[in-house]
Amino acid sequence: MLREHQLANLTGNKRLQCPQFRSSEPRIHEDAPIKVFAMVKHGETFVSETDTEVIPKLCKFIFQGLNKTEGGKVPFSKLVMEVLKKLEGAYALLFKSTHYPGEMVACKRGSPLILGIKDPNSLGRGSFSHIRDAGDKKWRVIVLEDNDVLHLTGGGYGIYNTAQQDVEEAVPRVLLTLQMEVEQIMKGGADHFMQKEIHEQPESLLQTMRGRVQFQRPALGNPYFNPRIKLGGLVEVTETLKRCRRVMFVACGTSYHAAMAARQTIEEMCEVPVVLELASDLLDRRCPIFRDDSCVFLSQSGETADTLRALEYAKAKGALCMGITNTVGSSISRSTHFGVHLNAGYEIGVASTKAYTSQIIVVTMMALQLSEDSISKREKRDQIIDELGQLPGKVRRTLMLDGTMQELAKQLMSQHSLMFFARGYNYATALEAALKVKEVSLIHSEGILAGEMKHGVLALVDENLPIVVPETVEALQPVINIVPLQLLAYHLAILKGLDVDQPRNLAKSVTVS
Ligand code: G6P
Repeated sequence: MLREHQLANLTGNKRLQCPQFRSSEPRIHEDAPIKVFAMVKHGETFVSETDTEVIPKLCKFIFQGLNKTEGGKVPFSKLVMEVLKKLEGAYALLFKSTHYPGEMVACKRGSPLILGIKDPNSLGRGSFSHIRDAGDKKWRVIVLEDNDVLHLTGGGYGIYNTAQQDVEEAVPRVLLTLQMEVEQIMKGGADHFMQKEIHEQPESLLQTMRGRVQFQRPALGNPYFNPRIKLGGLVEVTETLKRCRRVMFVACGTSYHAAMAARQTIEEMCEVPVVLELASDLLDRRCPIFRDDSCVFLSQSGETADTLRALEYAKAKGALCMGITNTVGSSISRSTHFGVHLNAGYEIGVASTKAYTSQIIVVTMMALQLSEDSISKREKRDQIIDELGQLPGKVRRTLMLDGTMQELAKQLMSQHSLMFFARGYNYATALEAALKVKEVSLIHSEGILAGEMKHGVLALVDENLPIVVPETVEALQPVINIVPLQLLAYHLAILKGLDVDQPRNLAKSVTVS
């Protein structure tokens, strides 16, 4: 069925499921992210429930129509541009066709798409490989922009943009060099990326703080001129941030939990109202946002579609928008007004681990920097900064619980449900632990605010229900407490023989809404 115009979704992300789309009766779900009009009347049969399948069919239909009207074969890029006129929503697509041997067309809107170039000297002759294959450890890439259409043909390539007036005129795009060590994307001695990334946390936390924290207390003096925390990305907006009406964190999944873990520190140190928003919910509610709001978009990948759409929404409302991502050059880092990188290193396991702890640290550092001229907060701030220096060592010691958590996993692996109770700073720990268990071990689990237990959840508790209760309520405790629970989720998944790095139905970066 798809032979005529093979099409692949370049991002490799979750395929879009379209429940009403049946092979016998092709229809397009009203809410499907990609809506295609005018196609379904033409009697095509469909073999999948994926709405993307409509696109090659549409391509074939337009190809035949154009050939008749133009009296010959149209250029491949022109054909794709005609197809794109019929598409709505977010996509990153790669087109190949037996009608255009040796040619390929790629295009994007909303979702990310990057052209990797193996040999920059052959630029213009278009030597093209998957970006991870760059043998010299440097990744040269061109980040395509929305509405770009990349046409690879005859060893060369051209990039066009359907939103500009003359769509046949090539547009210039900047060649970037990413400094990425190949070793960084290998498993090292670990069996799985998730395991490697959990154990990397002492180092990733250090990288997140490197050059940003003065661990030694300075000699007495005016702390304002001797700051112990310096996040370069915040320097120019510090005063605006301090005066904002409220700080709104917007994120999904694990990144949302990280914002929750550090919320109290911002509230306590900066005395500013902090609200947390799940990106999809913010959009559903069309949440009121004002010009004097500061919105912080937290995302490991910097590409999550809901977070990105929420960012566009907040920008349109005139809010000051900050990005915290782990991916240099990502859509969120490029679209925000300013931001901070996590520097946690490449995270490959679908279940986020080291990015989570680094996110907590970055938001905590943000709170410390914004409160640096507050004399009343000085002692508390100094204590937290002293503790930041101890943190990698403490996380390293916590990782020694690996064997203990493996044993615990053996006891828990046949459970149908787990509950994590916590309060205060560690409520986020409970939610994140439950998410990790759900994601990789496929066991139902819930994080419960301990204070709410008596208001309902208690009904579910009997002598057989395993309960895990992390201790203490210090600002940095969530960073330590999550580590054994990440290990627990990992061991549960391994014992159950599950794929920890690619859990079923999940994607590392969800670039569709
Ligand atoms: C996906 C991943 C989660 C992640 C979430 C948000 O659902 O499977 O691990 O927490 O996206 O991703 P982000 O890149 O925005 O932090």
